[in-house]
Amino acid sequence: MMDGVGDVASPDATSMAREQVVTPWDVEGAEGGGIDYAKLVRDFGCSTIDAAMIERVERVTGTRAHPFLRRGQFFAHRELDLILDAYERGEKFYLYTGRGPSSESLHLGHLIPFQFTKWLQDAFKVPLVIQLTDDEKFLWKDLTLEECERLARENAKDIIACGFDPKRTFIFSDVSYMSTPLYKNMMKIAKCVTLNQVKGIFGFTGESNIGQVGFPPTQAAPSFPDCFPHMFGESKTSLRCLIPCAIDQDPYFRMTRDVAPRIGGYKPALIESRFFPALKGESGKMSASDATSAIYVTDTPKEIKSKVNKYAFSGGQQTVEEHRRLGGNLDTDISWKWLNFFLDDDEELAKIGEEYSSGRMLSGEIKAKLIDVLIPICTGHQEARARVTDEDIEQFFSTKPRVFASLFGDMGDVAGALDEATIANTKPGVAIGAPTDAKIEKKGLEKAQTGEDGGAISKSQLKKQLKEQQIAAKKAAKAAEKAAGQAS
Ligand code: TRP
Repeated sequence: MMDGVGDVASPDATSMAREQVVTPWDVEGAEGGGIDYAKLVRDFGCSTIDAAMIERVERVTGTRAHPFLRRGQFFAHRELDLILDAYERGEKFYLYTGRGPSSESLHLGHLIPFQFTKWLQDAFKVPLVIQLTDDEKFLWKDLTLEECERLARENAKDIIACGFDPKRTFIFSDVSYMSTPLYKNMMKIAKCVTLNQVKGIFGFTGESNIGQVGFPPTQAAPSFPDCFPHMFGESKTSLRCLIPCAIDQDPYFRMTRDVAPRIGGYKPALIESRFFPALKGESGKMSASDATSAIYVTDTPKEIKSKVNKYAFSGGQQTVEEHRRLGGNLDTDISWKWLNFFLDDDEELAKIGEEYSSGRMLSGEIKAKLIDVLIPICTGHQEARARVTDEDIEQFFSTKPRVFASLFGDMGDVAGALDEATIANTKPGVAIGAPTDAKIEKKGLEKAQTGEDGGAISKSQLKKQLKEQQIAAKKAAKAAEKAAGQAS
């Protein structure tokens, strides 16, 4: 199945000035309107997440869905159903997300994918890789490469402050992680994509610099587990990949999914969010460079209070009398929208919606409620970030081989407590106990993935393959457990 590479209209055409533009670098609603998400899903060719799928996530993980999922902020996907199928069969997957480090101070919108990814990591008990695209920001912004590298490390503190499990999480910056199999995968991907294709997918023009034109494989490559031998071993099919991201990143992964079978990998699955609306109103995503459109995670309670009161777009009426009579407009009110993101309590949220839309609650009152919710989020983040030490950062960035089995489920910490035989059988720099190509029976998988012959893998092939994977995983887990037992 094609993922629609090339069939997205070029976003730079002047004739489309009135249409919405959504690329990884540009998000603008159609003239006079917000983002039309239904159109986006149609144009991009992804699917929407329905109630049944959310229920299935809850059933499979035994965890109540995160509010971002329950309330439709993460609303679209590609092959999330396949990930859930595989997970139920006992197959493993990893999460991949990232951030372009373009500024020192993150705003609340930047935290959303990370908060959600943290929830996914905890719910599924899976490993995670986080890419910091310091190279991307250098190519697109007026910043030195050294400054981008510095920002990557600063932003890593904010990311770590979201509470990721250091044992299951690897953070890397492109500039510092490039001389690894990441580069090999980039080359393989790059060879499969033509200039005409990236022009179509990303809207590059003759004026784009060649670093920009050549960048997409960099963000595509981490979708393949062999970019991270110290985490996942050297096989391209040891794991499936699920990518939580905002929907503006979809073009990268549309391209990746198209290339995946040609380089022998799984197509990454996606779970995609809407944009976090700006304080001043919804038409695009919140910009970090407009101080009045954003609440920064570094803002003080006083700043939060004054910004919300001054700038938060209100769906309230002109006068109190009119407001009591007509009620507030939930479709445009930013305080309401933000409460939908950040107020966990469903009942309280529903009550606020009712009170405000009926006019019993005034604009100033809903703003006061939002201020109450935002202050502890920001101060909590500031405290967590202040606790992040240099050693913490080193741990997340470390490329020391990890114990494959300990990245999943409730394996606990078995690293550093392995028997000599297990260690002796492991290549330097490669995760201990990671599945190898031979064990996964590459041939069958490649056939299933490529779809080159149009045929899916046979049931018996699949069974055999699964069995072998399970045996390999069990062996590794046993060895690790035994080693942990010996050490204690
Ligand atoms: N391009 C993204 C940004 O500018 C960063 C990024 C890299 C990313 N890899 C990713 C985002 C994977 C989501 C998923 O913020």
